[in-house]
Amino acid sequence: MPLNLFRKKSIDLIMKDRQAGFSDAETEAEGLRRVLSVKDLTLMGIAAVIGAGIFSTIGNAAFNGGPGVSILFIITAITCGFSAMCYAEFASRIPVAGSAYTYAYASFGELIAWIIGWDLLMEYAIGNIAVAISWSEYFTNLLEGFGIHIPAYLTMDYLSASKAHAEVIAAGTDLSKISDKVQFAAQAWNTAPGLGSFKFIADIPALAIVFLITYLVYIGIRETKRATNAMVFLKVGVVVAVVLLGFFYVKPANWTPFLPNGFEGMMKGVSGVFFAYIGFDAISTTAEECKNPQRDLPKGMIYSLIICTILYILVALVLTGMVNYKELQVEDPLAFVFKNVGLDNISYVISISAVIATASVMLIFQMGQPRIWMSMSRDGLLPEKFSSIHPKYKTPWFATLVTGAVVAIPALFMNLTEVTDLTSIGTLFAFVLVCAGVLILPEENATEANSKRFRIPYINSKFIVPLLFAGIFIYFKQEIMSLFDYNGDWHVYKDKLPYFLFILAAVIMSVLSFMKNLSLIPVLGMLSCLYLMTELGYTNWLRFLIWLGLGLIIYFSYSYHKSKLNK
Ligand code: ALA
Repeated sequence: MPLNLFRKKSIDLIMKDRQAGFSDAETEAEGLRRVLSVKDLTLMGIAAVIGAGIFSTIGNAAFNGGPGVSILFIITAITCGFSAMCYAEFASRIPVAGSAYTYAYASFGELIAWIIGWDLLMEYAIGNIAVAISWSEYFTNLLEGFGIHIPAYLTMDYLSASKAHAEVIAAGTDLSKISDKVQFAAQAWNTAPGLGSFKFIADIPALAIVFLITYLVYIGIRETKRATNAMVFLKVGVVVAVVLLGFFYVKPANWTPFLPNGFEGMMKGVSGVFFAYIGFDAISTTAEECKNPQRDLPKGMIYSLIICTILYILVALVLTGMVNYKELQVEDPLAFVFKNVGLDNISYVISISAVIATASVMLIFQMGQPRIWMSMSRDGLLPEKFSSIHPKYKTPWFATLVTGAVVAIPALFMNLTEVTDLTSIGTLFAFVLVCAGVLILPEENATEANSKRFRIPYINSKFIVPLLFAGIFIYFKQEIMSLFDYNGDWHVYKDKLPYFLFILAAVIMSVLSFMKNLSLIPVLGMLSCLYLMTELGYTNWLRFLIWLGLGLIIYFSYSYHKSKLNK
């Protein structure tokens, strides 16, 4: 029998399954409680977005890009805005849990749906590893400030410690060029108990927070909602306070030069800045817990994105105005700048809020992942247990526990930069597919056409996209031509490879836009996300492709045969 990789679950079937319930799991899932309003969704969006990114990874991005990192926040917000509109279009058309995975099932068919479901694991579970690590960094710094000391080797990953140890050994007696952070990590290596050459180094606070959050998610959405709302008010309040108070300490001289390392330096921050925005899409996994998903989900996503964008740009400007950008390569930049101007108490308040803020991000992600698995399991692509609903708490209990394990174990030993990069590339890829999916959604039927739901405004891309890219290519002709110069150094050259992919995609989409009058917003969404992916370099692409390959092996050996569409 030939493989049928693009068999689709029609929107009608998705909705019918949802309403009629075609399996026990589905019927049980009717029990998910419909409690979420626009306000709750916006708050959940903010809860998922404001976290480790603005409290932590912004430091490195500002160090590389200078004050101009605020431009990167604008560019990334626009990219996310296009994607949010596409998510909103899907969420209003197919209001069931599962997020991009369900959307892909309807538009591209099963294989791509599987790929995206697998890929979303990078956003939610791997993303949560990054957040847990960052949480642990703030938490241990905070305890340190209160005089409580956890041994360094119990607060970090093995790789960072062993790298730092090698760096310090190489530096010999001259430690002047070694940052405090690296010296601290090297100290972790030297003080860690060990067995032969193996050292016991693990991030225990990261493990602890994952346990706590998994428990909260396990016991149910109601409790989770309440906890989330409280956390959001606190963290938004603190970010606003940082902006208002920090404003008085801004020295405009720090803003020049605005882009000290040029465009290239600014773009080094892509992963960290994009990471700061990830999360607005997570609320689409709660469609079955919304009072009115077709109207409320799009609003929740877009409102939360707008609010966060404004806050981020202001934070970036205040931060780089308070101190020289070169000082910002720290784990806790927001707390750091206030300590720097002598406001130690404010700095503590910020650290406490960061601990709370990042915990609330984890809560949302830890809730999103099991719900995607639940949808995949209902379709037969994962074992049935993944969609089993807890009789008392009404949550997908098994999927929740597996998520807990998948996040907790790597959080013990993985490195923050690496997991942030992986999360960003995986999420960007999901966004590319969601934007592309909108372009090939089937026509609305008569009932859908009459419903008052959110729709992406149609702007014809026929001339805009080809002209835009022709203009960009002419303007950057020299840079583009230089991609073809191989200087013999593969290690340097390999990072250029992803750009070829982008150029190819831009050419194809220009032609398709011209021929098929495609809708502008999804086309720009696709291409802008793909462009940000190209900035993440060869190694991340390679890891990402290996990840996808692994997913395909599972699909062909298990899910393809077990799929409900196979019957
Ligand atoms: N946007 C989320 C954060 O910054 C992932 O923590």
